[in-house]
Amino acid sequence: MATIVGSIMTSHVPAIGGAIAKGRQSDPYWKPFFDGYPPVRTWLDRAKPDVVVAFFQDHGLNFFLDKLPTFAVGAAPEYQNADEGWGIPTLKPVKGDPALSWHIIESLVADEFDITMCQEMKIDHALTLPLALLWPGGGDWPVRVVPITMNHVQHPLPSPKRSWKLGESVGRAIQSWDSDARVLVLGTGGLSHQLDGERAGFINKPFDLMCMDALVNDPQTLTRYSALDLVREAGAQGTELMAWIAARGATPGRLTKVHSNYHVPISNTAAGLLVLQNEDAALPKAA
Ligand code: DHB
Ligand code: FE
Repeated sequence: MATIVGSIMTSHVPAIGGAIAKGRQSDPYWKPFFDGYPPVRTWLDRAKPDVVVAFFQDHGLNFFLDKLPTFAVGAAPEYQNADEGWGIPTLKPVKGDPALSWHIIESLVADEFDITMCQEMKIDHALTLPLALLWPGGGDWPVRVVPITMNHVQHPLPSPKRSWKLGESVGRAIQSWDSDARVLVLGTGGLSHQLDGERAGFINKPFDLMCMDALVNDPQTLTRYSALDLVREAGAQGTELMAWIAARGATPGRLTKVHSNYHVPISNTAAGLLVLQNEDAALPKAA
């Protein structure tokens, strides 16, 4: 059966794309952010995932206010980058893994999740920028991807509890996949941020740090918040935390924290990063 090596949760601020393209990683503004990622790449050299199952929000790219699935699973052989502006250079398409996608879709529906299945899907900064941070160079991505989008665009949003359960169900599906693939779970977005309105620029560092700790030690506490609680505590776009909650729900085994980073602000966002290793996956020892 497939092995889940662990999970990575990271912010996905669009400006990261411009900073990479312009080589600004060492600028004083960006350095504390980019310095978070080399330890992740060292860990990835050991974890060696073949496939990434990624939770993120779609930002209105595939689905807009007229038709908006709460959860959608991609089942395409390839996903093209189509960002909605922000000045991010277009990155290379990402290979899909239709066999795992369909296995996850079958399992989710059997588990009573009425998801939308997508044989075509575009991808934006929520997936491409985390991939570019984990595997820099803008070359061919060394992993296949199964994208799972969550509605953080139009209320009513799913709840943190439902996001956790979605993650658990996806985690069970991956572990029942008859394959020797190594799977990494990825959750992108957050942490606290509000991009517009009277509270534009709102950041709640104590809440973010509490969430990062809870995601390691007691993730189910976060399922007690409603979506509107998250808007209040983390800002209107801070609801992207639910992608982190889903990723944590999908990651089984005895988990240890390999690495974390937190830096404020990047754009109007608190940038967070968390890497969890599944101790039951028996990774090779660090060199
Ligand atoms: C910003 C952050 C996001 O998560 C996003 O999707 C778009 C913009 C920002 O901080 O600018
Ligand atoms: Fe976002």
